[in-house]
Amino acid sequence: MRRYSEEVIDSVRAANDIVDVISQYVKLEKKGADYFGLCPFHSEKTGSFSVSRRKQMYYCFGCHRGGNVFKFIMDHEHMEFIEAVQFLAARSGIKLPEVEMTKEQKAVASLRGQLMEINKEAATYFYRLLHSDHGSHALEYFKNRALSKETMQKFGLGYSDQYSDDLYRYLRKKGYTDEVLKQSGLVTIDEVRGGHDKFWNRAMFPIMDQYSKVIAFGGRVLGDGEPKYLNSPETPVFHKSHTLYGLHLARRSRREGMILCEGYMDVIALHQAGFDNAVASLGTALTSGHAGMIARFTDKVYLSYDSDKAGVNAALRAIPILRSAGLTPLVVHMDPYKDPDEFIKGLGVDAYEKRLEEAENFFYFRAHQLEKDYDLNDPAAKTAFQQKLAGMLMEFSDEMERNNYADAICKKFQIPVETMKRYIISLAQQNTGLTSRRPIVEPDSGRGHKKDSGITKSQMLLLSWLVDRPDLFTQVRELIEPEAFDEGLLREVATMLYRQMEEVGVPNPAAIADRFENSEDQDMVTHIFYEDVRVLHETPEAEKNRALIETLTRVVQNGYDKKRSAMEETDSRLITMVIEERAQIDKIKKMKIINA
Ligand code: UTP
Ligand code: MN
Repeated sequence: MRRYSEEVIDSVRAANDIVDVISQYVKLEKKGADYFGLCPFHSEKTGSFSVSRRKQMYYCFGCHRGGNVFKFIMDHEHMEFIEAVQFLAARSGIKLPEVEMTKEQKAVASLRGQLMEINKEAATYFYRLLHSDHGSHALEYFKNRALSKETMQKFGLGYSDQYSDDLYRYLRKKGYTDEVLKQSGLVTIDEVRGGHDKFWNRAMFPIMDQYSKVIAFGGRVLGDGEPKYLNSPETPVFHKSHTLYGLHLARRSRREGMILCEGYMDVIALHQAGFDNAVASLGTALTSGHAGMIARFTDKVYLSYDSDKAGVNAALRAIPILRSAGLTPLVVHMDPYKDPDEFIKGLGVDAYEKRLEEAENFFYFRAHQLEKDYDLNDPAAKTAFQQKLAGMLMEFSDEMERNNYADAICKKFQIPVETMKRYIISLAQQNTGLTSRRPIVEPDSGRGHKKDSGITKSQMLLLSWLVDRPDLFTQVRELIEPEAFDEGLLREVATMLYRQMEEVGVPNPAAIADRFENSEDQDMVTHIFYEDVRVLHETPEAEKNRALIETLTRVVQNGYDKKRSAMEETDSRLITMVIEERAQIDKIKKMKIINA
């Protein structure tokens, strides 16, 4: 909850230069315009942690953490935002005004705070029970499932007692009211019968947020019974579509990519086997929220779902969602076992590692699944199959990528590749009446915000570039309006950056990060402003100019595409627009981008 005005926050930030502050924690070395050191958030031998004085932000190329000076203090000192502001104000001798939260803000803050406390209390309670006499059969259960002491500890596993209200009574004694307890999802309050625990006689799995704070629970029956798993309901601190089990550990993993599986036990078994990059979406299908969270840490996802029909279908549904977030999914095959937990028990760690190496490219996986529905000996079915493949190929927005996949898949299924490419072009022309410059078919994403991760990346690159090259702003402003950026966070950031440039003439990305309340959004803002560093790390100066030209062109074209897609095909303004677009692109080609 914010308690200070933007002005106050701005002045605290301005008084605490990020390089000075971080230097007190990390040994930094200057390299070019930026500073580098060993990342304090994950273990590493070579410094991939960078701090930029110009951006007033930091970013780690290894673990992808980043943010402004407040975020650094929050992460490093484990503070809430307000505490970080107070900490840095004190450091720089700024006296903060006494500002009260509104009554409503206070209530929300204190409810969330109390719910977090309650979850923590409950986790401790369940943990203690597991290791008491009452929990012996639960402990036996975990042992039978081959979990080591360390693993149980690491995941904070516990046990909920046979009594139906012992946790309720325990929490009441701690001073929590029925009103608050009700909202924790851990108890139900009945007017007549009083308070009752949601979980009893179950093996308990605390669910942590990415900062290792307990926010909910899953409880499994000991043995057979229905329902097998019970989960906390949605609460003010637990949102299923934005929670990944195991993420607090996986985000610090040094392994490549993340392994996405279906359940609690899979995550735990994988971590125990050394695959500490495993996460799971719990009891719900994967959402774009989950995908976005993964995308902040890596760009590769090993889908390690169950090998049954339901698992295959879940993987097919997950692929476009992951793709929309810019991730590359690979499918790990578990046969002849049901899931990763059983696979590792059956064939061991090395065999699983091998399966990871052999993980199937998402496109081949889809094609192979599709193939099962057609009898390729029948010419009609074969044609239908190939046309479906063409449709799938058209989801690739990048021409080069599309062609590469066309080549590969045609070879696999012995389809003449030229025929396939001609068919794709004809499909494209049917769809637009224009050229087949860019993706024609909407990618089959869910409600995903990012239609085309390529174009999203270009927009990010452009914004980050403007921070380093504010001298280009006037020219860019003429070509691209904030509305041309993807709706949502990206457009908000663009709008704020444009306003800063117009009003003060100086970009201030660190201030923009502060305008976003939640830490995920802040990570995303950092991600945006570090796009240029990521992309242009080792690009020579001459190439950079070409890259910016291409980026500008793509963003401009995309802006026009968006406008056009909102118009009728017969609209006479279409032609004018095409001409205008060509002129703009010519202008970009002639732009002189000399380094400032
Ligand atoms: P599975 O039934 O595949 O669970 O459900 P599992 O992890 O293999 O279970 P074990 O090995 O028998 O203990 C996958 C996930 O779906 C959710 C849980 O999150 C589970 O981990 N689920 C399953 C529920 O929420 N409720 C259920 O009744 C069953
Ligand atoms: Mn299982």
